[in-house]
Amino acid sequence: MIKKSIILIGYMGVGKSFIGKILSKELKFKFIDLDTYIESKEKKTINDLFKEKGEIFFRNIEKKYLNNLLSENSKYIISTGGGTPCYSNNLDLINNNNNVKSIYLKASISILTDRLFIDIHNRPLISHLNSKKELNNYISKHLFERSNFYNQADIIIDVDNKKIKEIIYQITEELT
Ligand code: S3P
Repeated sequence: MIKKSIILIGYMGVGKSFIGKILSKELKFKFIDLDTYIESKEKKTINDLFKEKGEIFFRNIEKKYLNNLLSENSKYIISTGGGTPCYSNNLDLINNNNNVKSIYLKASISILTDRLFIDIHNRPLISHLNSKKELNNYISKHLFERSNFYNQADIIIDVDNKKIKEIIYQITEELT
């Protein structure tokens, strides 16, 4: 029996939303994707929010909506944005909340590069990069900076070369 709600953190492209949705069906927890929640509340896409209002505005509302969601009473799984735990005191909010467990979904730079290159135009932080090599360099540096935050999660799950079933099994094993 899993007693706590779950917050999924990790770099863009690691599969937080995909894994979160499947895990929520398995555990019968409510699933909330923080980016989708922000888009529905603000009635704008994340891309447009970055373009029209800038990253600082986005980080402020990201914090506000995370805070709202953390106070939900029912059991939930939240997939956060890649930057969520790295700004403001969001990570403390997550880790100091006794009702939640945080899980870092970890993937290698090469796998993240392959996945993100396909979807580069939909992601405001990397859409300006022109080649796979540039993307690889960007991710190497960025992930290095962010790992310090991600590694503070309660549980770390390596997702490289694993089938979704294995990932779900490993998460549920770690949580029980
Ligand atoms: C961001 C990741 C995105 C989204 C925004 C910023 C980041 O979410 O929140 O574009 O700073 O890494 P995903 O990780 O779901 O792509």
